[in-house]
Amino acid sequence: MGKVYVLDHPLIQHKLTHIRDKNTGTKEFRELVDEVAMLMAFEITRNLPLTETTIETPVMETKAKMLAGKKIGLVPILRAGLGMVDGMLKLIPAAKVGHVGMYRDPETLEPVEYYIKLPKDISERELIVIDPMLATGGSANDAIASLKKRSAKQIRLMCLIGAPEGVKKIQEEHPDVDIYLAALDEKLDEHAYIIPGLGDAGDRLFGTK
Ligand code: URA
Repeated sequence: MGKVYVLDHPLIQHKLTHIRDKNTGTKEFRELVDEVAMLMAFEITRNLPLTETTIETPVMETKAKMLAGKKIGLVPILRAGLGMVDGMLKLIPAAKVGHVGMYRDPETLEPVEYYIKLPKDISERELIVIDPMLATGGSANDAIASLKKRSAKQIRLMCLIGAPEGVKKIQEEHPDVDIYLAALDEKLDEHAYIIPGLGDAGDRLFGTK
């Protein structure tokens, strides 16, 4: 079964509180999501392999560590996932970015895939699927299945807030996928919103409400 990591660094928790607050406006919301995504990228890249190189400091020659150049791909789920991409790219600037477009059918609440564009070499990359809200898990589940169908081998899922229902769904359907959250909330309400949550992440990011 995939592991769940709650990245509860104090800075992440503090910023998330402002993100949740309904009085936080679009500009500040967007900036905070960007910052939290950057902090989460710091945590999620702890496992990156290092290699040793030789450099000369102004004082002497020395051996020093460098990233071994593991290939990473970020895959935001449109549209709310876009809000976390720039923050992550600040720390992982060489990552390639694919996009998966999903929307939730308002009647059935089922996710529908309407767009997909990925780097060619996804089978060689460690992919990080990004979506701020892991609610029912429907979109993330379908996005991950889409990536696997296209021969992705290593996938992790990164969200701001998860609900136990969404976590369970991903763990059942994709036991090879670890989940990284800034917070694990209580449950879903009758409209499949996460409670306490933060409302509609896409609307709050893009000011469409
Ligand atoms: N999507 C959101 O944007 N918010 C939720 O609470 C659930 C799904």
